[in-house]
Amino acid sequence: MALRRIYDAIFFFFISLLLLFPSPSVSDSATQFCSAERGYGEESCRDPSSSSSSTRILIKGGTVVNAHHQQLADVYVEDGIIVAVQPNIKVGDEVTVLDATGKFVMPGGIDPHTHLAMEFMGTETIDDFFSGQAAALAGGTTMHIDFVIPVNGNLVAGFESYENKSRNACMDYGFHMAITKWDDGVSKDMEIMVKEKGINSFKFFLAYKGSLMVTDDLLLEGLKRCKSLGALAMVHAENGDAVFEGQKRMIELGITGPEGHALSRPPVLEGEATSRAIRLARFVNTPLYVVHVMSVDAMDEIAKARKAGQKVIGEPVVSGLILDDHWLWDPDFTIASKYVMSPPIRPVGHGKALQDALSTGILQLVGTDHCTFNSTQKALGLDDFRKIPNGVNGLEERMHLTWDTMVGSGQISATDFVRITSTECAKIFNIYPRKGAILPGSDADIIILNPNSSYEITSKSHHSRSDTNVYEGRRGQGKVEVTIAGGRIVWENDELKVVPGSGKYVEMPPFSYLFDGIEKSDANYLSSLRAPVKRVSTEPHRNGKYKNSTFRQKIYPGSGDKEEKQEIKPMTTVSLRKQNTRLPPEVNRVLYVRNLPFNITSEEMYDIFGKYGAIRQIRIGCNKDTKGTAFVVYEDIYDAKQAVDHLSGFNVANRYLIVLYYQHAKMSKKFDQKKNEEEVAKLQEKYGVSTKDK
Ligand code: URP
Ligand code: ZN
Ligand code: ZN
Repeated sequence: MALRRIYDAIFFFFISLLLLFPSPSVSDSATQFCSAERGYGEESCRDPSSSSSSTRILIKGGTVVNAHHQQLADVYVEDGIIVAVQPNIKVGDEVTVLDATGKFVMPGGIDPHTHLAMEFMGTETIDDFFSGQAAALAGGTTMHIDFVIPVNGNLVAGFESYENKSRNACMDYGFHMAITKWDDGVSKDMEIMVKEKGINSFKFFLAYKGSLMVTDDLLLEGLKRCKSLGALAMVHAENGDAVFEGQKRMIELGITGPEGHALSRPPVLEGEATSRAIRLARFVNTPLYVVHVMSVDAMDEIAKARKAGQKVIGEPVVSGLILDDHWLWDPDFTIASKYVMSPPIRPVGHGKALQDALSTGILQLVGTDHCTFNSTQKALGLDDFRKIPNGVNGLEERMHLTWDTMVGSGQISATDFVRITSTECAKIFNIYPRKGAILPGSDADIIILNPNSSYEITSKSHHSRSDTNVYEGRRGQGKVEVTIAGGRIVWENDELKVVPGSGKYVEMPPFSYLFDGIEKSDANYLSSLRAPVKRVSTEPHRNGKYKNSTFRQKIYPGSGDKEEKQEIKPMTTVSLRKQNTRLPPEVNRVLYVRNLPFNITSEEMYDIFGKYGAIRQIRIGCNKDTKGTAFVVYEDIYDAKQAVDHLSGFNVANRYLIVLYYQHAKMSKKFDQKKNEEEVAKLQEKYGVSTKDK
């Protein structure tokens, strides 16, 4: 958290310097000072060493949309940075002016989930860093985060391999890294990746048994390590063992076609793994990012966890939002196989539920999982769906389809669109506001979207190298007409102008906002333990619990010894909780169980309540004010809950104090041994407890 603040401070310090004291390559014209007297980019206030007019761009008259706000304004860009966002900016002749009247000017998209040039399932994805990124730029995405796959589990070798793969990059990109094995070397290398290589997230595949899959013990180690490094843990959540079983079942049933893919890994397996990962992350107390949420089952788990205050991010992907699984039953293998991805595209209904979750904030950002194989590669699984390389396209289509599906239908606003396609990703991966915003000082990654312009998606005109497209023939409204990446116009008039090698690697610092508050909640957890307990002896009490705990000796003399019994101090009932300082501070609610026998002894209390767990103290009032009142404090909340549930049906949630209260009226009555025994018997029957085994 502290580190993140330092990074933020450095960012703003740098931006302030840039604006106030421009470096030699950034002239006064790039500052507000020039605008006061002359116009941005005018010859007289421009650095003569900066040559190309393409580095100075004015976007005029558009609606500038950020996640937090939209306004009519001009945007002035110089040398790759947004310099000003305000109405009526004046510029000189050398500035390229783009008219955005009636259009939206928004931050370029950031795709949090891609696989370019990835070796997978015996082949390699058809889009490399150049073709995949060119496609992205044509669709308004100006940055993506790809997954480095370690080489034989080795992170450093994996990183070097991806450094090579990305040499022909033509737009900005960052890396997540998968963890596929565990040892001290991996643990140390994670630190190197975070501290030296700009990686702040690690992904754990709970599926792909026999290749990328990790088991729960590795996941636990990984979660702990992520937490200590301030790195975000990500999961591909499907139960890989059960998927393996499901695949065998399909083959035994003679189902070998693409439909077998969906049938072998139903939503329940996604729900199970999502729930498991979420619970383990809660156990470790570290944030979790669930990639490609494809089903209601998984989404429900995320919703539940978020509602309970857990830091869980859910990422749906475009294919899961708008496609359904009927394609997998298409009689044409080429068509059916192109829809094979994991987790599978689900039956009708799941996609709309995911859209709803996205629009209400249960899910936070949209990715693609762009992992493209052409029809020849897909044909590797002609006779066996298990061999069809998993993955679909989406990098070029994500912005268009999200706009059309979510904004075009009225489900979300333009500002929401910016948030789910760009800003939220920048925040989660700690590169905001350098990315994900149209603000002075942010990188000039900008799109101009015309809401009145339409498009049709087809593999004939798309920019991916694949010969197929899972969105083939789909038409939509709201077209990205201009993409500016790093201050250069790279997409305009349906033409791409990209240069291999011009893309920059974006380092992402650890300890994003998701880590805020973790230290505090860890401290709270530690103070809630009330442990270790100092015990003088571990000799078990006859009811199976501790007989001689220090608490019991000091506070409750309940072993039947007369002398000890006399040590009971009268207690006040005025306010049990406020005045009795011996009560643990966590005790914050008193539960009354009425009408218990007023002459019950502490020993009997132990016998009844000790059945549910170790007792910290039992006290029975013995003066005129307190007679008839007693309390039981359990060592463990769960034991207390069990006791209360059992005895009275109350749900004590996080409390563990039970107060037994005998009605005072009874105290004045003459003690009737027989009646009392009957009462005890009734209560014992009612509460399912017995003192017979004393
Ligand atoms: O089918 C998919 N999703 N392929 C890419 C690898 C992954 O699981 O993300
Ligand atoms: Zn995955
Ligand atoms: Zn993926």
